[in-house]
Amino acid sequence: MEPPVIVGVSKEIVKINDLIKHVSDTGLNVVITGETGVGKEVVAQNLYQNSPRKNKPFVKVNCAALPEGLLESELYGYERGAFTGADQKKRGKFELANGGVLFLDEIGDMPISLQSKLLHVLQSGEYAPLGSEKELTTDTWLITATNHDLEKEIKKKLFREDLYYRLNIIRIHISPLRKRPEDIQPLIDYYIDIYTSKFDNKHLLRPEKRIFDKLLAYSWPGNVRELQNVLKRVLVLGNWDEIIDELIFDEAAGDIKSDALPFSPDTAASSAFNYSEPPDLESFSLKDIRKQALDKVEKEAISYVLEKTGWNRSKAARILKISYKTLLYKISDLNIRPPVSP
Ligand SMILES: Nc1ncnc2c1ncn2[C@@H]1O[C@H](COP(=O)(O)OP(=O)(O)OP(=O)(O)O)[C@@H](O)[C@H]1O
Ligand SMILES: [Mg+2]
Repeated sequence: MEPPVIVGVSKEIVKINDLIKHVSDTGLNVVITGETGVGKEVVAQNLYQNSPRKNKPFVKVNCAALPEGLLESELYGYERGAFTGADQKKRGKFELANGGVLFLDEIGDMPISLQSKLLHVLQSGEYAPLGSEKELTTDTWLITATNHDLEKEIKKKLFREDLYYRLNIIRIHISPLRKRPEDIQPLIDYYIDIYTSKFDNKHLLRPEKRIFDKLLAYSWPGNVRELQNVLKRVLVLGNWDEIIDELIFDEAAGDIKSDALPFSPDTAASSAFNYSEPPDLESFSLKDIRKQALDKVEKEAISYVLEKTGWNRSKAARILKISYKTLLYKISDLNIRPPVSP
């Protein structure tokens, strides 16, 4: 299979394509960083398909989409009877990816407790499935991606510094589309060709200059994925003007700044642990308190952005800089509901 093309003429994209050629056969750990939709997964695919591991599996795990316990068993697998409900043995992603690539997406969202286990695997090349005494060895090329600033997370003690240095041997940063506007034209040309050959009864209009200038001025919070969606909508509606009007609205919604939030993460977090109720010391656990606090802050922030965007979830995901899938997961996990209309 041919790797997906990384389209672009900007210095950054040329450099990234070049770097991929140099890194692919080294098997050195890579961290790919950048906002949502910039092409982190495409870069991971390119690293894999240019590498000697290309005929072995490429296994992807989204660390943000699974709660802690599930993520651990997903990665390392378990023996039958390891916990209630484990009625048969399950192979973990490390085992499935053996010889190939394990792509850990949204690594910045991996709970700190699992970070220690991952560090151990990186140091020793060994791990034990849950409920097993026997260590398995693993030969996987670890490629990770995140849209968080891991250095900031380290300062906040949310990401282990030692793990960071293990993962971050090669860093590939993909800058947002608004910082490399010269890539917009080649991306439009590339996707117009793809979409018109896919839907052959449709004709996609190339944007005239007046429209193109607006596309250049737009901030593209959802980056290349958003550009693809715009092109698909133009294809369906058959004109650019309507879509361009929507973009301007998007941009206004993209201006929500965290310092303008009508709630304070501090207050939300501290109210998660309420001293007025005497804590039951038997069931007291810092882990639970942390989870409750985080859930509370996240719930408020997500609800706020959903409300501001009129429950437009793809727009909300772009503003929150998380993937659409992660947002859907969080909406259901945190039990966030749209306001009931009277
Ligand atoms: N330079 C590029 N050339 C061609 N297609 C691209 C490029 N960058 C991104 N894309 C396309 O844009 C879409 C989004 O890319 P991708 O899924 O790799 O983004 P991501 O950075 O992993 O986003 P997220 O953080 O939301 O997971 C994909 O369909 C991908 O093929
Ligand atoms: Mg991705």
